[in-house]
Amino acid sequence: MELIIDRITKQYANKIAVDRISCSLKDGVYALLGANGAGKTTLMRMLCGVLKPTSGEIKLNGLNTSDEEYRNSLGYLPQDFGYYPDFTAMEFLMYISSLKGLDKPTAKLRSTELLNLTSLSDVAKKKIKTFSGGMKQRLGIAQAMLNNPKLLILDEPTAGLDPKERVKFRNLISDLSKDRIIILSTHIVSDIEYIANKILIMKSGQLIHNDSLDEIIKIIEGKVWECSVSTSEAENLSRIYTIINIRHEKDKTFLRLVSDKSPTIDAVKAEACLEDLYIYYFSDVSEVERNEK
Ligand SMILES: Nc1ncnc2c1ncn2[C@@H]1O[C@H](COP(=O)(O)OP(=O)(O)O)[C@@H](O)[C@H]1O
Ligand SMILES: [Mg+2]
Repeated sequence: MELIIDRITKQYANKIAVDRISCSLKDGVYALLGANGAGKTTLMRMLCGVLKPTSGEIKLNGLNTSDEEYRNSLGYLPQDFGYYPDFTAMEFLMYISSLKGLDKPTAKLRSTELLNLTSLSDVAKKKIKTFSGGMKQRLGIAQAMLNNPKLLILDEPTAGLDPKERVKFRNLISDLSKDRIIILSTHIVSDIEYIANKILIMKSGQLIHNDSLDEIIKIIEGKVWECSVSTSEAENLSRIYTIINIRHEKDKTFLRLVSDKSPTIDAVKAEACLEDLYIYYFSDVSEVERNEK
């Protein structure tokens, strides 16, 4: 599979929500990372053909989003997915199957398989309104998988999951990731390090990074420091640098921060992680602005 996105743009009234994004995606799991309002949902809705781009082109193995074959290759979990509280899990999957045009025996077979895969077999006959957030999200993924899509788009699938549900979710995505393109958006960093082969970072409608986790981490490698300082020194440092973490202990303050060179005499270099990079990019005031004050 190859998904080619060519200078895709979406402008609402006077707001450019997606700004000339180009990239080419092959089979694998892609995490689309960006703050609220970065344009993730807008981009995903264009990829699903439910929103018309202002300009630019999307091709899946040469197919347009309006082609029937494109739609048949697509699975989508929208951010604001409606779950029909009075349906049971099985009824819901059978209903979505009929919308997708699956015949009844196939629908029954796929629904049973997917309830199994998403660990919902035991609650197949329970009403959705009795489900936890994580169970609903897994059912949402199941409905998106009914047609065995080659392109699976999940908009904030980890929102509202507890830690146990997150582990289940990660395992589920790994199980599904063979021979298809999965794009999942999030503004939560922690899961991505485990599940995504590639990271797409969006900021203000633009794609600012498209690389493997290792490559993306390199941007900030050697620039993450930890130090222990007095409270007043901590205040000074936080005016100069992007602070990733602050921890107070008795009369000392432990800081984790981003800096090109050592921020204090005894600061120690720390191993960089994706969360450091995320805060570096998305904290309210960037380092440059702080330095210019
Ligand atoms: N229907 C719309 N009309 C006008 N502006 C919109 C509409 N949908 C989204 N936006 C704006 O576009 C930007 C991107 O939104 P969205 O794609 O939802 O971002 P994200 O999913 O990353 O939070 C935001 O500034 C949002 O307010
Ligand atoms: Mg969104």
